[in-house]
Amino acid sequence: MENINWAELPFGYFKTDYNVRSYFKNGKWSELDVCTDEAITMHMAATCLHYGQQAFEGLKAFRGIDGKIRMFRLEENAKRLAHSAHGVMMEPVPLDLFMEACKKAVKLNEKFVPPHGTGAALYLRPLLIGTGEQVGVRPATEYTFIVFVCPVGPYFKTGFKPVKMQIVRDYDRAAPLGTGTYKVGGNYAASLQASVRSQTEGFASVLFLDAKEKRYIDEAGPANFFAIKGNEYITPRSHSILRSITNMSLRELAADMGLTVVERPIAVEELADFDEAGACGTAAVITPIGEIVDREERISYKFGEEGVAGKVATELYNRLRAIQKGEIEDKFNWNTIIE
Ligand code: PLP
Ligand code: COI
Repeated sequence: MENINWAELPFGYFKTDYNVRSYFKNGKWSELDVCTDEAITMHMAATCLHYGQQAFEGLKAFRGIDGKIRMFRLEENAKRLAHSAHGVMMEPVPLDLFMEACKKAVKLNEKFVPPHGTGAALYLRPLLIGTGEQVGVRPATEYTFIVFVCPVGPYFKTGFKPVKMQIVRDYDRAAPLGTGTYKVGGNYAASLQASVRSQTEGFASVLFLDAKEKRYIDEAGPANFFAIKGNEYITPRSHSILRSITNMSLRELAADMGLTVVERPIAVEELADFDEAGACGTAAVITPIGEIVDREERISYKFGEEGVAGKVATELYNRLRAIQKGEIEDKFNWNTIIE
């Protein structure tokens, strides 16, 4: 196998052998095209370049303890890309085509799936872009769908160790009736200034508040927010956050562990009452939050013992990872095994 230091992999681009593409033209999607080229050629008036007609997904494949490759909740990502496509008026990728493309991209790059026990995974990045030309503000009639893969390590360098996050009040990520529930690049563009600033100020990520009232917790940078209070798993209900598939899974695991799952708006001042806080997502997995600093209000909220992940977050993390890596029964039927 490749000479890769799996345990030290960052979360970043890594060249693999193949990517898989399909093109929507004249009202239909093409057969899957297997490419070795990392570049795309497109019309300079493509709508993805001008009017933000693009959306992406993120999911992982794991090498299990039995040597088999498992993809986590593939169909949920297929559905969410269709939701995002609808949001910015793109041609949705049929669910079967999405799943076939992902499986093919993993299979073709099998040697890049990190070995079991290294802590790394193969990250899949499906991407849908408007490649037809328009100069007026209108949806394209042609689209390109690509799936590429990269072996990756943890998104937050600390791995499963508590991080510090920063509440900001001088930037918004997504408007209440805007694009926050879609996984479109514009949301990430809108988050960049605040994110880069928070990193230079020593934080792992920004914690965005709802844009309307600046009162409720919305999104933990590239992840959803959750908290533990007594026997409750609490996570924001909001119309401007991404519906995280990891969060959806943690809610099921939490309920299975006997916790009460609560989805409701979470006011900032409630942070003072939480036992544990965390961020969750495909890239972030579960990242415990040790401290949240409200930048403008100059208030700091701390959770648990310094430097130590909370008990419940740790149990959720262990259960989630064990299912993903085939170490315990996949009782919710979340994995797709690649044959
Ligand atoms: N929120 C945002 C803004 C994200 O980019 C992600 C990553 O995909 C998530 C939440 C977590 O979603 P998921 O668990 O489906 O990866
Ligand atoms: C993911 O967790 O899959 C993400 O997309 C987060 C980030 C890298 C954008």
